[in-house]
Amino acid sequence: MRDGLFALPHEPVEVAPGAVHVPGWLSVERQRELVAACREWALGPVPMRHTVLPGGGVMSVRTVCLGWHWQPYRYTRTAGDVNGARVARFPDWLADLGREALVAAYGGGGGGGGGGGAGEYAPDTALINFYDGAARMGMHQDKEERSAAPVVSLSIGDSCVFRFGNTATRNRPYTDVELVSGDLFVFGGPSRFAFHGVPKVRPGTADPAVGLASGRLNITLRETGLPG
Ligand code: SIN
Ligand code: FE2
Repeated sequence: MRDGLFALPHEPVEVAPGAVHVPGWLSVERQRELVAACREWALGPVPMRHTVLPGGGVMSVRTVCLGWHWQPYRYTRTAGDVNGARVARFPDWLADLGREALVAAYGGGGGGGGGGGAGEYAPDTALINFYDGAARMGMHQDKEERSAAPVVSLSIGDSCVFRFGNTATRNRPYTDVELVSGDLFVFGGPSRFAFHGVPKVRPGTADPAVGLASGRLNITLRETGLPG
């Protein structure tokens, strides 16, 4: 399997065991629909905002959540660090999209999953991050979830460098993957708790047809493992 310049649309590329990049997975039409939905979610009930870290730092991405509200470093139903409102519900159609994504990445079996096959995947939260040209995300693990089910990541708008590392350290070895608008990336199985980050966004690379004038949207779907 190949990646980078030679990646073919829809051909899954295994970046690490359980970590799969599917270039060009979302049609332009689906990207447009997701952009429109994100515009609505960004307005509230909890508005999209820069997350403030416990040490006082401010994340450069802007974030809005569905289903459960992520704040460093836990999930809550209400956004006590924003306006106290309950987050918007996680729509069924987005869970369907998550299951489709697992089939695209792993095939019909349970490969990479933290248990059952794609049909059992039941994401109950989405983190929607918006990157302007200067935003980035440092190397981190998605580990507030009490579930080993895969994380499904959808990218729309400007391209970025997505750095996908290992479970032991935030440093090398890692692989830099170019994520382009419409790309799917799934990390589960042995890679579920790998460090990853976004060292660079490439301003001006988005296709205006997807409905984003500038910047990059990333949507991650996760199972929190928390009681519904
Ligand atoms: C994240 O790690 O939550 C976001 C990754 C990305 O923006 O591609
Ligand atoms: Fe993450």
